[in-house]
Amino acid sequence: MDPYLAARFVHILFAALWFGLTIGGGQKALLFAREGLDQRTDPKTFLLKNGILGAFAGFATLAAGTWLMSQTGGWEDQPTPIHVGAYLAIVMFVIGALPISMGWKKLARSRSNGVAQTELEAIARRIGLWERALQLLWISTLATMVFRHI
Ligand code: HEM
Repeated sequence: MDPYLAARFVHILFAALWFGLTIGGGQKALLFAREGLDQRTDPKTFLLKNGILGAFAGFATLAAGTWLMSQTGGWEDQPTPIHVGAYLAIVMFVIGALPISMGWKKLARSRSNGVAQTELEAIARRIGLWERALQLLWISTLATMVFRHI
């Protein structure tokens, strides 16, 4: 198997997973905030899916991207758009690890402390905004990758 194609396949696969995990993130947070006492889902379910899987997909995209770079001459030999894309991906990783994961932890904690519904929904909407920011950054990064030779 051609290592360049293998690296590219793994890179795009995990980048797609990373994007997929952002879809509906805001709705899930709002649903979680609005759940009645009798239907309450264990927050771990969301924290696992949104926190750990998202971090894994992001890390794997970065790692496979680095692997791809090693196949194509290393960091110095990459066109500037790839450098920009790599930096944008690091910003995405930080957004997933900080405002989104911490937002979910705050939402879970606030719900179990009986915080008012309106405040829970406000926290959930903020998580949704950060998920939206992730999606826009992802699309921008994809553009830097595909149009890297322009
Ligand atoms: C959200 C993040 C990312 C997405 C969606 C993404 C997507 C892609 C796609 C679709 C390609 C293939 C483009 C084509 O051949 O037309 C590509 C190529 C590439 N990506 Fe990424 N990428 C991401 C992050 C990264 C990161 C963080 C790095 C480096 C650490 C990286 C390094 C590369 C390299 C070096 C290539 C070009 C390989 C070549 O010259 O053929 N990417 N990326």
